[in-house]
Amino acid sequence: MTSMDAPFYDVNLSYEDNYAKGPFGAFATALAREDAADSAAGAVAAAGAAAAVGTTATFLGIPVDLPFGIPAGPLLNSRYTHAAFLEGFDIAVYKTVRSRPWACNAFPNVLSVHPQGDSIDPEGTEKDEGVLADSDFGTDAARISISNSFGVPSQDPDIWQPDMALAVQQAGAGQVLVGSFQGSRTPGMSDDAYIADCVTTARLVQETGAKIIEMNTSCPNEGHNRLLCHNPELVGRICDAVKNEIGDTPFMIKLAYLPADEQVETMVRDTAAHGTVQALCTINTISCKLVDAQGGQALPGAGRDRSGVCGAAIRPAGLAMVRRVAAVRERLGVPFDIVGVGGVTTPADYEAYRAAGAAAVMSATGAMWNPSLARQIKVALA
Ligand SMILES: Cc1cc2nc3c(=O)[nH]c(=O)nc-3n(C[C@H](O)[C@H](O)[C@H](O)COP(=O)(O)O)c2cc1C
Repeated sequence: MTSMDAPFYDVNLSYEDNYAKGPFGAFATALAREDAADSAAGAVAAAGAAAAVGTTATFLGIPVDLPFGIPAGPLLNSRYTHAAFLEGFDIAVYKTVRSRPWACNAFPNVLSVHPQGDSIDPEGTEKDEGVLADSDFGTDAARISISNSFGVPSQDPDIWQPDMALAVQQAGAGQVLVGSFQGSRTPGMSDDAYIADCVTTARLVQETGAKIIEMNTSCPNEGHNRLLCHNPELVGRICDAVKNEIGDTPFMIKLAYLPADEQVETMVRDTAAHGTVQALCTINTISCKLVDAQGGQALPGAGRDRSGVCGAAIRPAGLAMVRRVAAVRERLGVPFDIVGVGGVTTPADYEAYRAAGAAAVMSATGAMWNPSLARQIKVALA
């Protein structure tokens, strides 16, 4: 049992209110403490205190105190990433941005989900038959599973670029900010135009000074349930073009769970084997049909019968995927790092992902409800 804090993203408020007023809970306290420190020396001491109990490692060539952080999603802007750094998350991914403003799905965007067993089998039937979703988030941060339905909103680059540049600057010693982006596929858009949009957005992220860039490939591509990462050939073409634009900046791609080893192998051959991608980050959420207690659609609105599930319920799938990606890496002899994501809510989960082959580990849902998670891992490892 891990006690549950007020999440730093308030699920009872809209995305826009979270963007404007957040973060909340312990992350807000960390920022207030930082504001109160009226000298630069105070700020440095605060960042140093978070780093002091950790280990020394590198992530894609950049020194990090502990290769642990928060993946793309819950850190909406520089106030969130700054608070994450202050709380000892040494890798902070700035929420996925786009080349243009993009509206968020209607409220609510986060529900608690309750699969029948403790976990969701990504190859099983429960995810298509219906998983109970409601607003009872329980009391145990180690067991929480949620659904998030945002539609990857984005500010205009004129807003997110200066803010991401600030976020980059706020990383302390042994910390790094990752800039995440995705292409914006609009109806009728050709592959070439889509690739060009990805390249433009990668360049906009690079202009902020981000030392590592990530592209989300777990986004819809040609249809509701068909993700970009289900088309490794297109991902490969995009990565060739993006890497050509960003040069030596380490580049990683975010993958959803892929059921077949052949899909993983093709992905590695079309990306890391080209030298375009230095890390694969996996997994993203698992798409499930969400139902309320009466069996009706849990989230309001057209096209929202299914939504991505994350948190404790997807840990077995995340660990299995990391093991399989590591096995493919071994078999093909292609060098790249693996970033393990999915259901990390305790220090033991961090260690399980490292043992599975992850060079770095991240937690979204677990960190939202337990903002002390990075410190707890550092203490456990000390
Ligand atoms: C609130 C929230 C928003 C998210 N938004 C994004 C996003 O914009 N881009 C992305 O690549 N993944 C996004 N994700 C997925 C996470 O990065 C992660 O892959 C997933 O939540 C599994 O990790 P977890 O079990 O620790 O939550 C989001 C997750 C959450 C909880």
